[in-house]
Amino acid sequence: MSHSLVIFGASGDLTTRKLIPALYKLAERGRLPGTLRMIGFSRTPMSHEAWRAALAESTAKFVGGRFQRDAWNQFAAGLYYHPGDIGHAADFASLSKQLDELEQGKPTARVYYLATVPQFFEPAIESLGASGLAAEEGRPNSPCRRIVIEKPFGTDLASARRLNDVVHQFFAERQVYRIDHYLGKETVQNILVFRLANAIFEPIWNRNYVDHVQITAAEEVKVGRRGGYYDTAGVLRDMFQNHLLQLLTVTAMEAPAKFNADAVRNEKVKVLEAIRPMTTVEVATNTVRGQYLGYRREKDVAPDSQTATFAAVRLDVNNWRWQGVPFFLRSGKAMGCRTTQIVIQFRDPPLRLFGDGTAGQQKANRLVIHIQPAEGIQLHFHTKVPNREVDTRETTLDFRFDSFFADALPDAYERLLLDVLSGDQSLFARSDEVELAWGIIDPIVAAWQATGRPPLWQYEPGMWGPIGSSDWMQAAGRQWLDDCPVLKHVDGGETE
Ligand code: BG6
Repeated sequence: MSHSLVIFGASGDLTTRKLIPALYKLAERGRLPGTLRMIGFSRTPMSHEAWRAALAESTAKFVGGRFQRDAWNQFAAGLYYHPGDIGHAADFASLSKQLDELEQGKPTARVYYLATVPQFFEPAIESLGASGLAAEEGRPNSPCRRIVIEKPFGTDLASARRLNDVVHQFFAERQVYRIDHYLGKETVQNILVFRLANAIFEPIWNRNYVDHVQITAAEEVKVGRRGGYYDTAGVLRDMFQNHLLQLLTVTAMEAPAKFNADAVRNEKVKVLEAIRPMTTVEVATNTVRGQYLGYRREKDVAPDSQTATFAAVRLDVNNWRWQGVPFFLRSGKAMGCRTTQIVIQFRDPPLRLFGDGTAGQQKANRLVIHIQPAEGIQLHFHTKVPNREVDTRETTLDFRFDSFFADALPDAYERLLLDVLSGDQSLFARSDEVELAWGIIDPIVAAWQATGRPPLWQYEPGMWGPIGSSDWMQAAGRQWLDDCPVLKHVDGGETE
């Protein structure tokens, strides 16, 4: 079948930095459907040739050594540009005409990708609906219409519901692809493979063996040029509502009966349903918030901003598998290193037979799933130190993707774009999933604003967030794994 992909926000950063490079890399590897046309829609007046030339330059920059002129020229022949305004009906009528001309009456799957700023999501959906571009029925040559919506999907539960309502006026849920690029990461997809394609981990993946789970998404970068957006969003909306909760659901969910979009998403939804939204009093004790020093001097940030650039949140998944196992989530900007990792911290052994029997001597086992940048999995366990009677040391078993697989891991957008084109919704958030996630985050945001508790700690850039975060973990009888994972190849030497 032939495909048309219309990108709204064609001159924006996302299109230039992510979408076009991902599409080009797929084309270069022969992974795209043969008859894919890509139509850029944005306000800037430009010809097809001018858009192609601008993209050639930016794509060469973003894909580096992968850029080959011949391959690009072949790819660029499928790029078209349509100047237009999202609020103008006439521009959608002319877009419709252009699509009909390009498709020449052949059965074509159309994908509308909203890569615009979020304020344009609703008007774009309404214009697609009003112009008839969303309709599937009654058009023999229009087998399917899909819409891809970038994040953020709303800024709270009420706005997410409103956006879902607008979407559902014109598109059925089976046509909707809400992006969370974390789900496109190979290492995130591998969590389910690790858990469910191996029989040995699942029996211990529960409250009987696991003491707690830590999910960390630490970033070294500050807010950069995005101060205006970030100051209204903050870390909870920017990272927790989507990426961190997605990591949590994939870690905690039950095995689906089948590996298809609805079965997988049903299980993820059950996890979110098992997390009870916090009361104001609970927010004061179950969360930590921080702001890096210097944040208030960033461009477009209010000089007295109370926005958190770091947060740590304890969530409890109240179901049979996880009752009593806290999930500690944290994320921040301007932290000591860039790492996203999930730590499954197992329980202490029932008896400490070795050493003097104190807990410090023998840490419990832990499994660390490194999502990025050192993609891999590490099991921490105890080993006898040679030549000493009963001395033990914590050692690791390491798996690294790059030791086993020659190809570099693809960018998340490559996988997600392919899935949209082939109609697989497994790695996209469903409407109920998004709303439940906001239902967990909203009370925290509201309590922070209303009570000012817990206090907004300042932290030095380059730290693991505020000191208060470590104290908070200690008060819960646990310790963060503050580890910058530079996993070295195991050539007989030590790994760290
Ligand atoms: C985005 C956030 O969704 O994810 C950014 O808006 C954040 O603030 C980014 O930096 C992190 O993504 P990644 O893939 O670099 O971990």
